[in-house]
Amino acid sequence: MTIQINQCNLGDLRTLQEISIETFNETFKDQNSPENMDAYLERAFNLNQLEKELSNSSSRFFFVYFNNELAGYIKVNIDDAQSEEMGNESLEVERIYIKSKFQKHGLGKVLLNKAIEIATERNKKKIWLGVWEKNENALAFYKRLGFVQTSAHSFYMGDEEQTDFIMTKILN
Ligand SMILES: CC(C)(COP(=O)(O)OP(=O)(O)OC[C@H]1O[C@@H](n2cnc3c(N)ncnc32)[C@H](O)[C@@H]1OP(=O)(O)O)[C@@H](O)C(=O)NCCC(=O)NCCS
Repeated sequence: MTIQINQCNLGDLRTLQEISIETFNETFKDQNSPENMDAYLERAFNLNQLEKELSNSSSRFFFVYFNNELAGYIKVNIDDAQSEEMGNESLEVERIYIKSKFQKHGLGKVLLNKAIEIATERNKKKIWLGVWEKNENALAFYKRLGFVQTSAHSFYMGDEEQTDFIMTKILN
């Protein structure tokens, strides 16, 4: 069994779009209307948008491979790339997605540890993320890895206002 993490670059744009759409669909399509899903997918994962994000020096994307097969990805943000004003002592995990067939193999933890490594290298004091209040699997995962809920904010899935919990882990 081999697990490998590679940082993405612009050459990965289309692969990033594919895995973003695939994993978002797997995670949320059963609990959201097709219209709201389509609106979100088009806005968040169009090639122009992803290209902009890949080119932002305050954001980094990583792919994780399980036995040489692409299994998931993570996006981390610092400074102004964070989706909330959290200041320059924090790092945001904006996205972390493992394809369903690779879940529960420890890959999510490997990606989160990568985020913690980057945060520590940059002397960040905490790592934070927003997670839909109804995403019970992800909430259980974050709690298992030491995150606690510190606040909440609104998130739009198409035209539906949803609540995201803000989860935070203080770094030593
Ligand atoms: C949430 C997610 C990233 C977790 O990744 P994963 O690879 O399945 O999780 P891991 O195997 O690394 O689990 C790490 C630990 O969390 C625990 N855990 C993971 N999912 C869990 C769940 N649903 N319930 C309880 N514990 C869970 C594991 O048991 C493991 O504990 P251990 O270290 O004691 O063995 C993954 O399931 C996923 O991509 N889900 C769909 C997308 C999603 O919801 N992303 C988050 C959006 S905010």
